[in-house]
Amino acid sequence: MEEYQSFSLGSQGELTMGGVSLPALAEKYGTPLYVMDEEKIRHTCRAYQRAMKRNFGDAFHVSYASKALCVKGIYPILKEEGMCADVVSGGELYTALQAGFDPAKLHFHGNNKSWEEMAMAIKAGIGSFIADSEEEIHTLNELGGQLGKTVQVALRVKPGVDAHTHEFISTGDLDSKFGFGYENGRALKAACLVSSLPHLELCGIHCHIGSQVFLTEPYKLACRVMFQLLTEIGRETGTVPPGLNLGGGFGIAYGPEDKPLPVDEMIDALGEAVREGCRKHDLPQPFMTIEPGRSIVGPAGVTLYRVGSVKHIENVRTYVAVDGGMPDNPRYALYGASYQAVKATDPKGERNLRAAIAGKCCESGDLVTKDALIQPVQAGDLLCVFATGAYNYSMASNYNRLPRPPIVMVRDGKDRLLVKRESYEQLVQNDM
Ligand code: LLP
Repeated sequence: MEEYQSFSLGSQGELTMGGVSLPALAEKYGTPLYVMDEEKIRHTCRAYQRAMKRNFGDAFHVSYASKALCVKGIYPILKEEGMCADVVSGGELYTALQAGFDPAKLHFHGNNKSWEEMAMAIKAGIGSFIADSEEEIHTLNELGGQLGKTVQVALRVKPGVDAHTHEFISTGDLDSKFGFGYENGRALKAACLVSSLPHLELCGIHCHIGSQVFLTEPYKLACRVMFQLLTEIGRETGTVPPGLNLGGGFGIAYGPEDKPLPVDEMIDALGEAVREGCRKHDLPQPFMTIEPGRSIVGPAGVTLYRVGSVKHIENVRTYVAVDGGMPDNPRYALYGASYQAVKATDPKGERNLRAAIAGKCCESGDLVTKDALIQPVQAGDLLCVFATGAYNYSMASNYNRLPRPPIVMVRDGKDRLLVKRESYEQLVQNDM
């Protein structure tokens, strides 16, 4: 399948996205500004669905991980593309429901869901829970009884594989706060518990080994463990749960060092591992789910910043200060993330300035990226930072009381506001 190209050059040689001039958008909406390409999002949803269909027939879901970007405007797109979604909090659930998303297509994750969140989800008619602890299993059973519903429960399993990613976004190891370990027998025990309770139905098992993963091998290893567990659950309880969810985590390119696999290649590798598991354990193909978040919205987003100052510190570093920073993108501060950027009015110009792109917060760690190679810029220039569509707005804060930037969606040469810019009034509205 053809790669969809978000970017092109406008009549002034400026950068355009989805057919819209980025400098013109900065004029219209101000900066900092998140811009998202709707066609790119749709394109990636379709790529996942085609690859899943090729491998698993009709027995699959592609479930968007809402945490990557959870705003009302994303859900109509997911709905039209036939996607499911998962949520991890009452707030994410509320957002999806407010946007009119079918609750039956939602799955509830999280390692410490509250009673209120679980009750809210069951009342709304949520598709399933991915249970993370024995306490949660008991609460779900109790709530199911009270509300007269049989609750669909999958189990979050730690298959004990190394995803080869940043420690803070690696989740499949036994030493993780998430889920039930396979190797210490906790997962099997939890499956037996769910099966024994009257208001629950064990609908599957789930693992998510980590995020920003570039290799197929950790998924294949995880898949082997999960098939082993399916068989053991079948042996212990008399029923093999029908669903297998292998999570998300498919990596994207932030910098030239990142080499993401094409969707087809990644999903075909999962398909191969699943077919091997079925053969080896003499099991029918499970109902398959994957949960990509970052790879759906990440590459579809950019952030536009206005440069305020440039400091060349001889023999040390150049700092290009922009009008946002860690409040709109905390990923450098959290994970040492790196990003690529260009001058939006001259994206093809020679990139010969090595610089840190610094935010405007009172904190030295407030960088967007430490080592960018960009066109020479000066105060007033517009910088476009790429691949900011995932985990930027969703992790944004009001540190230093900076209002959160708006999100503009572009498609076919048109722009529309997805999220408004926060106002100073909104910043103080909860202050008593
Ligand atoms: N499923 C589960 C259970 C997850 O915990 C996650 C991400 C996903 C799916 C989606 O993973 P993705 O396809 O987006 O990689 N804030 C971090 C990322 C944390 C990811 C947490 N879980 C970052 O900015 O890199």
